Amino acid sequence: MSYGLLKGKKGIIFGALNEQSIAWKVAERCHEEGAEFILSNAPIALRMGELNGLAEKTGSEVIGADATSIEDLEKLFDAAIAKFGKIDFILHSIGMSVNVRKGKPYTEMNYDWLEKGWDISAVSFHKVMRVAYEKNCMNEWGSILALSYIAAQRTFPDYNDMSDNKAYLESIARTFGNYWGERKVRVNTVSQSPTPTTAGSGVKGFGNFLGFAEDMSPLGNATALECADYCVTLFSDLTKKVTMQNLFHDGGFSSTGVTQKVISKYDAE
Ligand SMILES: NC(=O)c1ccc[n+]([C@@H]2O[C@H](COP(=O)([O-])OP(=O)(O)OC[C@H]3O[C@@H](n4cnc5c(N)ncnc54)[C@H](O)[C@@H]3O)[C@@H](O)[C@H]2O)c1
Repeated sequence: MSYGLLKGKKGIIFGALNEQSIAWKVAERCHEEGAEFILSNAPIALRMGELNGLAEKTGSEVIGADATSIEDLEKLFDAAIAKFGKIDFILHSIGMSVNVRKGKPYTEMNYDWLEKGWDISAVSFHKVMRVAYEKNCMNEWGSILALSYIAAQRTFPDYNDMSDNKAYLESIARTFGNYWGERKVRVNTVSQSPTPTTAGSGVKGFGNFLGFAEDMSPLGNATALECADYCVTLFSDLTKKVTMQNLFHDGGFSSTGVTQKVISKYDAE
């Protein structure tokens, strides 16, 4: 169903890798709601070629950028400005931890890997906003979003250093959000349920955890498509005064102590 919520809006969507990606679903929904956008991902991800299908389907251009490289980001934003003039929305849907990938326990963290993952998963959000800020390329009442996870507030051991990266990411949204506020632009993070994607499935024990989160969420886990619907509302003019927030989109998981479903699993035999 389309409501035309983003008619005439232009944006940049970072992080669509394949059909499972949250950013992929956001791009599809933004297109259905009337937005035009550039799709961006790391050059190495573009080599897989899957993004071209999405670009064709949504009438978008693909421009590669390593989100940790100011030089790449400057080229990307220059291209966006040349194409659209000012833009209305940015989605940062980027995350990666080398420690998680290589199965390094948190207590034995490799600090070089930590720095790489931190730069990709958190600092890149600052870099994206900094380049957009310096180029003054956001329209008033524009919206900038990044995706987060509740491990920023609570411990989920296998999430490893991504927990710290997400805490940092959410803090950047608040801190930079203040400066963007002066330009009437909002900045938020959406804290999404565990979702079966390439990044999500890389976390040890993800399958079991998905089931646990489902049982602990009164409305059940939020899917990638439902997350995309929520992002559309946050890019739309219906949420103009929501800023500097970490917004839970998790079926109620974040407010739940325990559910009957989980308690029942401990029934005495
Ligand atoms: N899947 C989940 O369970 C879940 C839950 C909450 C939040 N998130 C967050 O959602 C976001 C999107 O992840 P996803 O689950 O859709 O997985 P995904 O693997 O589809 O997306 C991650 C993206 O980050 C991109 N990326 C990695 N390094 C990059 C770089 N240097 N420059 C530019 N892009 C780079 C990848 O190419 C990929 O497209 C991430 O921030 C993730 O932490 C995911």
